[in-house]
Amino acid sequence: MKVLLVGSGAREHAIAWKLRQSPRLTDLFVAPGNAGTATLAANLDIKAADVEGLARAAKDLRADLVIAGPEDPLARGLVDRLTVQGIAAFGPSQAAARIESSKAFSKDLMLRHGIPTAAAAVFSNRPDARRYMESRAGPVVVKADGLTAGKGVFVCDSPEEALDAIDRMMGDEAVFGAAGRTVVIEERFSGREVSAHAFTDGVTVKPLPFSCDYKRALDGNEGPNTGGMGAYSPPLWLDEALEPFIHERITEAAVHAMMSEGAPYRGVLYPGLMITPQGPQVLEFNCRFGDPETQVLLPRLKSDLLEVCWAVVNNRLSETEIQWSTDACVGVVLASGGYPGEYQTGYPIAGLSTLEPGVLAFHAGTALADDGAVVTAGGRVLTVVATAPTLLAARAAAYRNVQRLHFTRAHYRRDIAAPAENARVE
Ligand code: AMP
Ligand code: GLY
Repeated sequence: MKVLLVGSGAREHAIAWKLRQSPRLTDLFVAPGNAGTATLAANLDIKAADVEGLARAAKDLRADLVIAGPEDPLARGLVDRLTVQGIAAFGPSQAAARIESSKAFSKDLMLRHGIPTAAAAVFSNRPDARRYMESRAGPVVVKADGLTAGKGVFVCDSPEEALDAIDRMMGDEAVFGAAGRTVVIEERFSGREVSAHAFTDGVTVKPLPFSCDYKRALDGNEGPNTGGMGAYSPPLWLDEALEPFIHERITEAAVHAMMSEGAPYRGVLYPGLMITPQGPQVLEFNCRFGDPETQVLLPRLKSDLLEVCWAVVNNRLSETEIQWSTDACVGVVLASGGYPGEYQTGYPIAGLSTLEPGVLAFHAGTALADDGAVVTAGGRVLTVVATAPTLLAARAAAYRNVQRLHFTRAHYRRDIAAPAENARVE
Protein backbone atom coordinates (compact mmCIF):
# COMPACT_ATOMS: atom_id res chain seq x y z
CA MET A 1 0.00 0.00 0.00
CA LYS A 2 1.29 3.46 -0.93
CA VAL A 3 0.82 6.09 1.76
CA LEU A 4 1.28 9.85 1.68
CA LEU A 5 1.70 11.33 5.17
CA VAL A 6 1.28 15.09 5.62
CA GLY A 7 3.29 17.12 8.14
CA SER A 8 6.82 17.78 9.37
CA GLY A 9 6.85 17.41 13.15
CA ALA A 10 7.98 14.74 15.59
CA ARG A 11 4.36 13.55 15.56
CA GLU A 12 4.69 12.75 11.86
CA HIS A 13 8.10 11.10 12.36
CA ALA A 14 6.44 8.88 15.00
CA ILE A 15 3.55 8.06 12.62
CA ALA A 16 6.03 7.27 9.81
CA TRP A 17 8.08 5.06 12.18
CA LYS A 18 4.96 3.11 13.15
CA LEU A 19 3.64 2.81 9.57
CA ARG A 20 7.03 1.41 8.51
CA GLN A 21 6.39 -1.61 10.77
CA SER A 22 3.34 -2.60 8.72
CA PRO A 23 3.81 -5.51 6.31
CA ARG A 24 1.13 -3.89 4.14
CA LEU A 25 3.19 -0.74 3.51
CA THR A 26 5.04 -0.65 0.20
CA ASP A 27 5.86 3.03 -0.33
CA LEU A 28 5.83 5.92 2.11
CA PHE A 29 5.98 9.61 1.17
CA VAL A 30 6.01 12.49 3.65
CA ALA A 31 5.15 16.07 2.72
CA PRO A 32 7.18 18.03 3.64
CA GLY A 33 8.83 15.82 6.35
CA ASN A 34 12.16 16.40 8.07
CA ALA A 35 15.58 14.75 8.39
CA GLY A 36 14.01 11.99 10.52
CA THR A 37 11.26 11.06 8.07
CA ALA A 38 13.90 11.09 5.29
CA THR A 39 15.38 7.93 6.82
CA LEU A 40 12.02 6.11 6.53
CA ALA A 41 10.29 7.68 3.52
CA ALA A 42 10.69 9.91 0.49
CA ASN A 43 10.15 13.52 1.54
CA LEU A 44 8.19 15.69 -0.89
CA ASP A 45 8.71 19.45 -1.03
CA ILE A 46 5.04 20.35 -0.53
CA LYS A 47 3.80 22.38 2.43
CA ALA A 48 1.19 20.84 4.75
CA ALA A 49 -1.23 23.72 4.03
CA ASP A 50 -0.95 23.32 0.23
CA VAL A 51 -4.13 21.30 -0.33
CA GLU A 52 -3.94 21.55 -4.15
CA GLY A 53 -0.28 20.50 -4.21
CA LEU A 54 -0.99 17.55 -1.91
CA ALA A 55 -4.00 16.45 -3.96
CA ARG A 56 -1.92 16.60 -7.16
CA ALA A 57 0.91 14.60 -5.57
CA ALA A 58 -1.50 11.97 -4.20
CA LYS A 59 -2.92 11.51 -7.71
CA ASP A 60 0.48 11.45 -9.47
CA LEU A 61 1.89 8.96 -6.96
CA ARG A 62 -1.30 6.86 -7.09
CA ALA A 63 -1.42 6.92 -3.30
CA ASP A 64 -3.80 4.40 -1.74
CA LEU A 65 -4.13 6.40 1.45
CA VAL A 66 -3.33 9.92 2.64
CA ILE A 67 -2.88 10.54 6.37
CA ALA A 68 -2.99 14.13 7.64
CA GLY A 69 -0.90 14.92 10.74
CA PRO A 70 -1.72 18.58 11.51
CA GLU A 71 -5.08 20.37 11.68
CA ASP A 72 -4.37 22.97 9.04
CA PRO A 73 -4.85 20.82 5.90
CA LEU A 74 -7.95 19.22 7.48
CA ALA A 75 -9.49 22.64 8.19
CA ARG A 76 -8.67 23.61 4.59
CA GLY A 77 -10.60 20.66 3.20
CA LEU A 78 -7.84 18.20 2.24
CA VAL A 79 -10.01 15.16 2.93
CA ASP A 80 -12.96 16.51 0.89
CA ARG A 81 -10.58 17.33 -1.99
CA LEU A 82 -9.10 13.81 -1.99
CA THR A 83 -12.50 12.13 -1.62
CA VAL A 84 -13.67 13.84 -4.83
CA GLN A 85 -10.61 12.32 -6.54
CA GLY A 86 -11.46 8.87 -5.17
CA ILE A 87 -8.40 8.76 -2.88
CA ALA A 88 -8.86 7.40 0.64
CA ALA A 89 -7.93 9.91 3.33
CA PHE A 90 -7.56 9.46 7.08
CA GLY A 91 -8.97 12.46 8.94
CA PRO A 92 -12.21 14.43 9.20
CA SER A 93 -13.86 16.39 6.39
CA GLN A 94 -13.67 20.18 6.49
CA ALA A 95 -17.14 20.33 8.08
CA ALA A 96 -16.19 17.78 10.75
CA ALA A 97 -12.81 19.46 11.40
CA ARG A 98 -14.77 22.50 12.63
CA ILE A 99 -14.80 20.71 15.97
CA GLU A 100 -11.24 22.09 16.25
CA SER A 101 -11.14 24.92 13.71
CA SER A 102 -14.03 26.83 15.30
CA LYS A 103 -14.21 27.04 19.07
CA ALA A 104 -17.66 28.66 18.74
CA PHE A 105 -18.88 25.65 16.73
CA SER A 106 -17.47 23.09 19.17
CA LYS A 107 -18.83 25.00 22.19
CA ASP A 108 -22.32 25.06 20.63
CA LEU A 109 -22.06 21.37 19.76
CA MET A 110 -21.15 20.48 23.35
CA LEU A 111 -23.91 22.61 24.82
CA ARG A 112 -26.52 21.20 22.39
CA HIS A 113 -25.54 17.62 23.23
CA GLY A 114 -24.91 17.88 26.96
CA ILE A 115 -21.15 17.25 26.73
CA PRO A 116 -19.54 18.64 29.91
CA THR A 117 -17.73 21.93 29.24
CA ALA A 118 -17.42 25.40 30.73
CA ALA A 119 -20.41 27.74 30.41
CA ALA A 120 -19.53 30.24 27.70
CA ALA A 121 -20.69 33.16 25.60
CA VAL A 122 -19.64 33.83 21.99
CA PHE A 123 -19.10 37.36 20.59
CA SER A 124 -18.32 38.73 17.14
CA ASN A 125 -18.48 42.33 18.24
CA ARG A 126 -16.07 44.02 20.65
CA PRO A 127 -18.48 46.34 22.54
CA ASP A 128 -20.76 43.36 23.31
CA ALA A 129 -17.81 41.27 24.53
CA ARG A 130 -16.59 44.16 26.74
CA ARG A 131 -20.06 44.79 28.13
CA TYR A 132 -20.43 41.10 28.98
CA MET A 133 -17.07 41.11 30.83
CA GLU A 134 -18.07 44.19 32.79
CA SER A 135 -21.29 42.51 33.90
CA ARG A 136 -19.93 39.16 35.07
CA ALA A 137 -18.01 37.94 38.10
CA GLY A 138 -15.44 35.15 38.45
CA PRO A 139 -12.34 34.20 36.49
CA VAL A 140 -12.59 33.61 32.74
CA VAL A 141 -10.69 32.31 29.75
CA VAL A 142 -10.87 34.25 26.47
CA LYS A 143 -10.36 32.16 23.31
CA ALA A 144 -9.99 33.13 19.68
CA ASP A 145 -12.56 31.23 17.62
CA GLY A 146 -10.25 30.10 14.82
CA LEU A 147 -6.95 28.21 14.47
CA THR A 148 -3.99 30.00 16.10
CA ALA A 149 -1.44 27.18 16.45
CA GLY A 150 -2.41 26.89 20.11
CA LYS A 151 -1.69 30.54 20.92
CA GLY A 152 -5.21 31.98 20.96
CA VAL A 153 -6.18 31.20 24.55
CA PHE A 154 -5.85 33.77 27.35
CA VAL A 155 -6.31 32.33 30.85
CA CYS A 156 -7.15 35.53 32.74
CA ASP A 157 -6.45 36.32 36.39
CA SER A 158 -8.56 39.49 36.44
CA PRO A 159 -11.37 41.19 34.48
CA GLU A 160 -8.79 43.76 33.28
CA GLU A 161 -6.72 41.00 31.69
CA ALA A 162 -9.82 39.66 29.97
CA LEU A 163 -10.71 43.11 28.62
CA ASP A 164 -7.15 43.47 27.38
CA ALA A 165 -7.37 40.08 25.61
CA ILE A 166 -10.64 41.14 23.97
CA ASP A 167 -9.07 44.41 22.80
CA ARG A 168 -5.98 42.72 21.40
CA MET A 169 -8.00 40.17 19.43
CA MET A 170 -11.00 42.22 18.38
CA GLY A 171 -9.44 45.70 18.14
CA ASP A 172 -7.23 47.22 15.42
CA GLU A 173 -4.24 45.14 16.53
CA ALA A 174 -6.16 41.92 15.63
CA VAL A 175 -3.33 39.75 16.98
CA PHE A 176 -4.80 36.59 15.46
CA GLY A 177 -6.25 38.19 12.33
CA ALA A 178 -9.56 36.69 11.22
CA ALA A 179 -9.20 33.83 13.75
CA GLY A 180 -9.72 36.31 16.61
CA ARG A 181 -12.63 38.32 15.14
CA THR A 182 -14.98 36.04 17.06
CA VAL A 183 -14.15 35.14 20.67
CA VAL A 184 -15.43 32.61 23.16
CA ILE A 185 -15.45 33.78 26.80
CA GLU A 186 -15.79 30.91 29.23
CA GLU A 187 -15.70 30.07 32.89
CA ARG A 188 -12.21 29.29 34.15
CA PHE A 189 -11.76 25.89 35.75
CA SER A 190 -8.95 24.52 37.84
CA GLY A 191 -7.70 20.98 37.81
CA ARG A 192 -5.24 18.68 36.06
CA GLU A 193 -5.25 18.21 32.33
CA VAL A 194 -5.33 14.98 30.38
CA SER A 195 -5.42 14.17 26.67
CA ALA A 196 -7.97 11.58 25.55
CA HIS A 197 -7.56 10.25 21.99
CA ALA A 198 -9.79 7.88 20.06
CA PHE A 199 -9.92 6.36 16.58
CA THR A 200 -13.32 6.56 14.99
CA ASP A 201 -14.97 5.74 11.66
CA GLY A 202 -17.94 7.90 12.55
CA VAL A 203 -19.86 5.14 14.32
CA THR A 204 -17.43 2.96 16.27
CA VAL A 205 -15.12 4.78 18.70
CA LYS A 206 -12.01 3.04 20.08
CA PRO A 207 -9.96 4.87 22.70
CA LEU A 208 -6.19 5.20 22.80
CA PRO A 209 -4.59 5.22 26.26
CA PHE A 210 -4.65 8.52 28.15
CA SER A 211 -1.62 10.80 28.05
CA CYS A 212 -0.45 14.15 29.42
CA ASP A 213 1.49 16.92 27.73
CA TYR A 214 3.41 19.95 29.01
CA LYS A 215 2.61 23.19 27.21
CA ARG A 216 4.80 25.71 29.07
CA ALA A 217 8.44 26.30 28.12
CA LEU A 218 9.97 26.06 31.59
CA ASP A 219 10.03 23.72 34.59
CA GLY A 220 7.16 24.04 37.04
CA ASN A 221 4.83 25.08 34.18
CA GLU A 222 6.38 28.53 34.03
CA GLY A 223 7.16 30.62 30.98
CA PRO A 224 5.29 31.02 27.71
CA ASN A 225 3.09 28.44 25.99
CA THR A 226 4.77 26.27 23.37
CA GLY A 227 3.72 23.54 20.95
CA GLY A 228 4.53 21.07 23.76
CA MET A 229 7.73 20.30 25.71
CA GLY A 230 7.10 16.68 26.65
CA ALA A 231 4.51 14.03 27.34
CA TYR A 232 3.92 10.72 29.06
CA SER A 233 1.46 7.86 29.07
CA PRO A 234 -0.28 6.52 31.08
CA PRO A 235 -1.12 9.11 33.75
CA LEU A 236 -1.18 7.12 37.00
CA TRP A 237 -2.93 9.94 38.84
CA LEU A 238 -6.07 9.65 36.71
CA ASP A 239 -8.86 7.82 38.53
CA GLU A 240 -9.72 4.76 36.41
CA ALA A 241 -13.35 5.10 37.46
CA LEU A 242 -13.56 8.22 35.26
CA GLU A 243 -12.55 6.37 32.10
CA PRO A 244 -15.99 5.10 31.05
CA PHE A 245 -17.49 8.54 31.67
CA ILE A 246 -14.85 10.20 29.50
CA HIS A 247 -15.27 7.63 26.75
CA GLU A 248 -19.06 7.51 26.65
CA ARG A 249 -20.17 10.97 27.73
CA ILE A 250 -17.42 12.92 25.97
CA THR A 251 -15.67 11.17 23.07
CA GLU A 252 -18.46 8.88 21.86
CA ALA A 253 -21.05 11.56 22.56
CA ALA A 254 -19.14 14.01 20.33
CA VAL A 255 -18.76 11.49 17.48
CA HIS A 256 -22.45 10.62 17.62
CA ALA A 257 -23.36 14.32 17.82
CA MET A 258 -21.39 15.01 14.64
CA MET A 259 -23.16 12.14 12.86
CA SER A 260 -26.58 13.33 14.00
CA GLU A 261 -25.79 16.82 12.72
CA GLY A 262 -24.84 15.57 9.25
CA ALA A 263 -21.05 15.90 9.55
CA PRO A 264 -19.81 12.34 10.24
CA TYR A 265 -16.43 12.43 11.99
CA ARG A 266 -13.68 10.07 10.82
CA GLY A 267 -10.05 9.88 11.97
CA VAL A 268 -8.66 10.65 15.40
CA LEU A 269 -10.64 12.74 17.85
CA TYR A 270 -8.64 14.20 20.71
CA PRO A 271 -10.54 15.91 23.50
CA GLY A 272 -8.34 18.02 25.79
CA LEU A 273 -9.83 17.60 29.26
CA MET A 274 -9.54 19.13 32.70
CA ILE A 275 -10.38 16.95 35.69
CA THR A 276 -12.26 19.43 37.88
CA PRO A 277 -14.13 19.03 41.19
CA GLN A 278 -17.27 18.91 38.99
CA GLY A 279 -15.81 16.00 37.01
CA PRO A 280 -14.06 15.85 33.60
CA GLN A 281 -14.72 18.92 31.44
CA VAL A 282 -13.78 19.49 27.79
CA LEU A 283 -11.40 22.43 27.25
CA GLU A 284 -11.16 21.81 23.51
CA PHE A 285 -11.54 19.19 20.83
CA ASN A 286 -8.69 18.53 18.41
CA CYS A 287 -9.34 16.87 15.06
CA ARG A 288 -6.03 14.96 14.84
CA PHE A 289 -3.29 13.28 16.87
CA GLY A 290 -1.69 15.42 19.61
CA ASP A 291 1.92 16.51 19.47
CA PRO A 292 3.89 15.47 21.59
CA GLU A 293 1.31 12.91 22.82
CA THR A 294 1.60 10.81 19.63
CA GLN A 295 5.30 10.28 20.31
CA VAL A 296 4.42 8.50 23.59
CA LEU A 297 1.26 6.75 22.35
CA LEU A 298 2.43 5.02 19.18
CA PRO A 299 5.34 3.17 20.88
CA ARG A 300 2.63 1.62 23.11
CA LEU A 301 0.51 0.47 20.12
CA LYS A 302 1.00 -3.25 19.51
CA SER A 303 -1.36 -3.41 16.52
CA ASP A 304 -0.64 -2.34 12.94
CA LEU A 305 -1.34 1.41 12.61
CA LEU A 306 -1.88 1.11 8.86
CA GLU A 307 -4.55 -1.58 9.45
CA VAL A 308 -6.29 0.70 11.94
CA CYS A 309 -6.21 3.71 9.59
CA TRP A 310 -7.47 1.56 6.72
CA ALA A 311 -10.32 0.24 8.89
CA VAL A 312 -11.26 3.83 9.80
CA VAL A 313 -11.45 5.04 6.19
CA ASN A 314 -13.42 1.92 5.19
CA ASN A 315 -15.93 2.13 8.08
CA ARG A 316 -14.74 -1.19 9.50
CA LEU A 317 -13.35 -0.13 12.85
CA SER A 318 -15.82 -2.37 14.72
CA GLU A 319 -14.10 -5.42 13.18
CA THR A 320 -10.59 -4.29 14.12
CA GLU A 321 -8.94 -5.22 17.37
CA ILE A 322 -6.49 -2.62 18.72
CA GLN A 323 -3.97 -3.79 21.29
CA TRP A 324 -1.86 -1.64 23.61
CA SER A 325 1.20 -2.44 25.65
CA THR A 326 0.99 -1.96 29.41
CA ASP A 327 4.44 -0.33 29.29
CA ALA A 328 4.83 3.34 30.15
CA CYS A 329 6.32 5.83 27.76
CA VAL A 330 7.97 9.23 28.38
CA GLY A 331 8.96 11.82 25.77
CA VAL A 332 11.21 14.83 26.41
CA VAL A 333 11.37 17.60 23.80
CA LEU A 334 14.71 19.22 22.97
CA ALA A 335 14.13 22.74 21.68
CA SER A 336 16.28 25.52 20.29
CA GLY A 337 17.35 28.02 23.00
CA GLY A 338 14.95 30.98 22.89
CA TYR A 339 11.94 28.99 21.60
CA PRO A 340 9.01 29.87 21.54
CA GLY A 341 10.55 33.33 21.00
CA GLU A 342 13.44 33.97 18.62
CA TYR A 343 16.06 31.31 18.12
CA GLN A 344 18.93 30.38 15.78
CA THR A 345 19.02 27.30 13.55
CA GLY A 346 21.65 25.40 11.57
CA TYR A 347 23.49 23.90 14.57
CA PRO A 348 24.78 20.35 14.07
CA ILE A 349 23.13 17.72 16.32
CA ALA A 350 25.63 15.32 17.93
CA GLY A 351 24.93 11.98 19.55
CA LEU A 352 21.98 10.67 17.50
CA SER A 353 23.78 7.37 16.86
CA THR A 354 24.66 6.88 20.54
CA LEU A 355 21.16 6.32 21.96
CA GLU A 356 20.47 3.17 23.95
CA PRO A 357 18.72 0.38 22.04
CA GLY A 358 14.96 0.94 21.97
CA VAL A 359 15.19 4.65 22.76
CA LEU A 360 13.79 6.79 19.95
CA ALA A 361 14.60 10.32 18.81
CA PHE A 362 11.68 11.61 16.76
CA HIS A 363 12.69 14.60 14.67
CA ALA A 364 10.76 17.85 14.35
CA GLY A 365 12.78 20.91 13.28
CA THR A 366 15.75 19.12 11.71
CA ALA A 367 17.30 19.23 8.25
CA LEU A 368 20.16 17.59 6.39
CA ALA A 369 23.08 19.93 5.68
CA ASP A 370 24.97 19.66 2.36
CA ASP A 371 27.60 17.48 4.04
CA GLY A 372 24.89 15.07 5.24
CA ALA A 373 24.99 16.22 8.89
CA VAL A 374 21.69 16.57 10.75
CA VAL A 375 21.26 20.20 11.83
CA THR A 376 18.62 22.12 13.79
CA ALA A 377 15.98 23.77 11.62
CA GLY A 378 13.13 24.79 13.93
CA GLY A 379 11.93 25.63 17.44
CA ARG A 380 11.23 22.14 18.65
CA VAL A 381 14.03 19.91 17.38
CA LEU A 382 13.62 16.36 18.75
CA THR A 383 11.39 14.32 21.06
CA VAL A 384 13.45 11.69 22.90
CA VAL A 385 11.18 8.78 23.79
CA ALA A 386 11.78 5.83 26.10
CA THR A 387 9.49 2.92 26.94
CA ALA A 388 9.75 0.74 30.07
CA PRO A 389 7.56 -1.32 32.39
CA THR A 390 7.15 1.64 34.78
CA LEU A 391 6.84 5.38 34.30
CA LEU A 392 9.79 5.90 36.60
CA ALA A 393 12.07 3.65 34.51
CA ALA A 394 10.85 5.18 31.23
CA ARG A 395 11.53 8.66 32.61
CA ALA A 396 15.03 7.71 33.77
CA ALA A 397 15.84 6.21 30.36
CA ALA A 398 14.50 9.23 28.47
CA TYR A 399 16.63 11.65 30.51
CA ARG A 400 19.74 9.41 30.33
CA ASN A 401 19.50 9.58 26.57
CA VAL A 402 18.74 13.30 26.45
CA GLN A 403 22.21 13.67 28.04
CA ARG A 404 23.75 11.96 25.00
CA LEU A 405 22.41 14.53 22.55
CA HIS A 406 24.05 17.88 22.00
CA PHE A 407 23.50 21.01 19.96
CA THR A 408 24.29 24.65 20.68
CA ARG A 409 21.79 26.26 23.09
CA ALA A 410 19.62 23.13 23.42
CA HIS A 411 16.81 23.59 25.94
CA TYR A 412 14.61 20.97 27.60
CA ARG A 413 12.43 20.69 30.68
CA ARG A 414 13.77 18.65 33.60
CA ASP A 415 10.36 17.84 35.09
CA ILE A 416 8.59 15.79 32.44
CA ALA A 417 6.72 12.92 34.19
CA ALA A 418 8.20 13.99 37.52
CA PRO A 419 7.44 11.25 40.08
CA ALA A 420 5.57 13.57 42.49
CA GLU A 421 2.95 14.24 39.81
CA ASN A 422 2.07 10.60 39.59
CA ALA A 423 1.90 9.71 43.23
CA ARG A 424 -1.55 8.17 43.38
CA VAL A 425 -4.08 10.24 45.26
CA GLU A 426 -5.74 7.80 47.65
P1 AMP B 1 -7.32 25.11 24.57
O1 AMP B 1 -6.49 25.44 23.35
O2 AMP B 1 -8.74 25.54 24.48
O3 AMP B 1 -7.13 23.70 25.06
O4 AMP B 1 -6.65 25.95 25.73
C1 AMP B 1 -5.25 25.92 25.96
C2 AMP B 1 -4.97 25.83 27.42
O5 AMP B 1 -5.66 26.87 28.12
C3 AMP B 1 -5.49 24.54 28.05
O6 AMP B 1 -4.57 23.50 27.91
C4 AMP B 1 -5.66 24.97 29.50
O7 AMP B 1 -4.43 24.94 30.18
C5 AMP B 1 -6.13 26.40 29.38
N1 AMP B 1 -7.61 26.47 29.40
C6 AMP B 1 -8.47 26.42 28.35
N2 AMP B 1 -9.75 26.50 28.75
C7 AMP B 1 -9.73 26.61 30.10
C8 AMP B 1 -10.74 26.73 31.14
N3 AMP B 1 -12.05 26.79 30.84
N4 AMP B 1 -10.32 26.81 32.40
C9 AMP B 1 -9.00 26.78 32.73
N5 AMP B 1 -8.01 26.66 31.81
C10 AMP B 1 -8.36 26.59 30.51
N1 GLY C 1 -0.59 18.56 22.63
C1 GLY C 1 -1.35 19.65 22.20
C2 GLY C 1 -1.81 19.56 20.81
O1 GLY C 1 -1.40 18.76 20.00
O2 GLY C 1 -2.66 20.36 20.45
